[in-house]
Amino acid sequence: MNKNLRKAIIAGNWKMNKTRPEAKALLEEIKPLVANAEGKIEVIACVPFTNLETAVNTTAGSNVKVGAENVHFEKSGAFTGEISADMLTELGVEYVVIGHSERRQYFGETDETVNKRTKAALAAGLKPIVCVGELKWERECGITEEVVGKQIKLDLWDVTEEELKNVVIAYEPVWAIGTGLTATPEQAEEVCGFIRATLAKLYNQAAADAVTIQYGGSMNAKNAAELLAKPNIDGGLIGGASLKAADFNVIVQAAVEG
Ligand code: 13P
Repeated sequence: MNKNLRKAIIAGNWKMNKTRPEAKALLEEIKPLVANAEGKIEVIACVPFTNLETAVNTTAGSNVKVGAENVHFEKSGAFTGEISADMLTELGVEYVVIGHSERRQYFGETDETVNKRTKAALAAGLKPIVCVGELKWERECGITEEVVGKQIKLDLWDVTEEELKNVVIAYEPVWAIGTGLTATPEQAEEVCGFIRATLAKLYNQAAADAVTIQYGGSMNAKNAAELLAKPNIDGGLIGGASLKAADFNVIVQAAVEG
C-alpha cells in the first residue's frame, strides 16, 4: 500500500470551546500522552483564535502543532472581525482548517471562498486542512461522489502540484459530524479513495499518493483504529473527542500503531 508515502495526521478541531486557562490545561494534559508520536505521526490542535497564542506557547518544544479554525483570504484591510494568514504565521501557527461544514452551513462559506482561503493560506506558508463532505440527503440521492468531486476540483482550483504537498484533505460527511453516526470504515474508505483518484486525475498519481486524507465525523476512541486501518484514511479530524485528553490520545495511539 502507499500509506507509507504520507504522514498520518491526527488533528483536534476544538470548534468554539475552551477559554485560555482551559485550553492551557487541556494541552498540558495532552502533551505527555502523545509525546511518543514524535517522528511517527503529526499531532495538531486546531483551536479558537483567542487560544492560539496560549496554544503556541504551551506546546512550544513539544510535538503538538497548532492550527487555526479559519483564515481570511485578503492580506489586510477593512474586514471587521477577520484574521489574515500573516497574522496566524506571525503567531507561530502552522495549520488552518478551511471550509469546515459548519462554516459552509452557518456562515455562507462557498467553494469559491474556500478556494480563496486555501490559496491565501498556502501563499503565507500555512498548511490548509481543506474540509469536504456530502449532506445526508445528497448521500441518499446517490450523488456523494459528484458533490465531493466538485468540492475537490473547486476548492483546489489553481493550487499547484508544489503547493499540494502542503495541503491536507479532511473528508467529513456532514451527517456524521457531532451526531454519533460515524461513516462505516467501508463508506469512509470509499470516499477517501475517490478523493485520491480525483487528485490523481487533477495532478498525477504520485502527487495524489503523497496527500494526507483524514476522515472526520464522530471519530472516537472506540472506532478510530478500524477507520485508520483503511488504506486511504491517513488520519482524523476530531471534534468532540479531541476535548478529552484521554480519548484524543487513544486516537493518536491508534494512528501511531497504524
Ligand atoms: P465530531 O468529531 O464532534 O463529530 O466533529 C467532527 C468535526 O467536525 C471535526 O472537524
